[in-house]
Amino acid sequence: MEDSAAIISEINRLKKEKNAIVMAHYYQREEVQDIADRIGDSLALAQFAAQTDADMIVMCGVHFMGETAKILCPDKKVVVPGGREAGCSLADSCEAGAFRKFVEEHPDHTVISYVNTSAAVKALTDIVVTSGNALKIVESLPADEKIIFGPDKNLGGYINSVTGRDMVLWPGACHVHDRFSLQAILDMKKQNPGAKILVHPECKRQLQIVADKVGSTAALLAFAREDEADKYIVVTESGILHEMQRACPQKTFLPAPAEDAECQCNECEYMKLGTLRGVLEALRSGEPEVTVDPEVAALAVKPIERMLELSK
Ligand code: 13P
Ligand code: SF4
Repeated sequence: MEDSAAIISEINRLKKEKNAIVMAHYYQREEVQDIADRIGDSLALAQFAAQTDADMIVMCGVHFMGETAKILCPDKKVVVPGGREAGCSLADSCEAGAFRKFVEEHPDHTVISYVNTSAAVKALTDIVVTSGNALKIVESLPADEKIIFGPDKNLGGYINSVTGRDMVLWPGACHVHDRFSLQAILDMKKQNPGAKILVHPECKRQLQIVADKVGSTAALLAFAREDEADKYIVVTESGILHEMQRACPQKTFLPAPAEDAECQCNECEYMKLGTLRGVLEALRSGEPEVTVDPEVAALAVKPIERMLELSK
């Protein structure tokens, strides 16, 4: 069995040999974040993919992130070390056939879909958004434009509460963000009165309301970097604490517990399927490769490119 140092050295050798780039989401395991060439939120990962001149993208995240990269870079090899099992409960809460029917029932609406969707759902979409740009993109539309927002009802509700736009929401949710306990977070706040509460917009409304900052992983990280407090209760997947702690070593970050959690953190099991060994195997074999039906990709690329354009 190779040790971590040997695995990392072989990863670095293969990256050069194959002209590959390793990208990782903030929810990945610490050791995977540490070896990545690029680390970011969902928006940054799409932007990195659109800009890279590497021949191979090792996307350490979940399947839809690999699909987005493949749609943007059809000529590159894209691999997701966690494989097809690295799914997303939020993307799975929006099946393309049902979403098509929903879109047909609201013919005069602009369709905005969160990046956490399958390529087939993106193909039915006018503009893709992430939690990092959803507010800006919705605000850029004419005030009287009717909007379908899917699939995250909590993010959609948040955008709706800030903008007051005419929006119909698809009733989807992420099983990780939807299960944070308000009571547990209020108890933590009582025990840590100076701590600020950082909340991802995929969390329920009652958690957004008690937050000092609501934002994407990158926005929460930027807030923690710039803010003057020294302690934070972090209400999102606990993988982000690694980068927060690295960026702000003098500050304390407390992971918020889930409603039914036995431990003190809240992890996405799909994100944790990415491992150092998985990155090595993916580089060696070029598997598990992400493929997208070219007809679906030809439709899905338009709303993704629109998002990248509107995010400049
Ligand atoms: P962001 O990194 O864009 O905030 O997304 C959070 C998430 O749940 C990704 O799956
Ligand atoms: Fe999907 Fe939630 Fe996991 Fe993000 S944390 S990948 S939204 S299941």
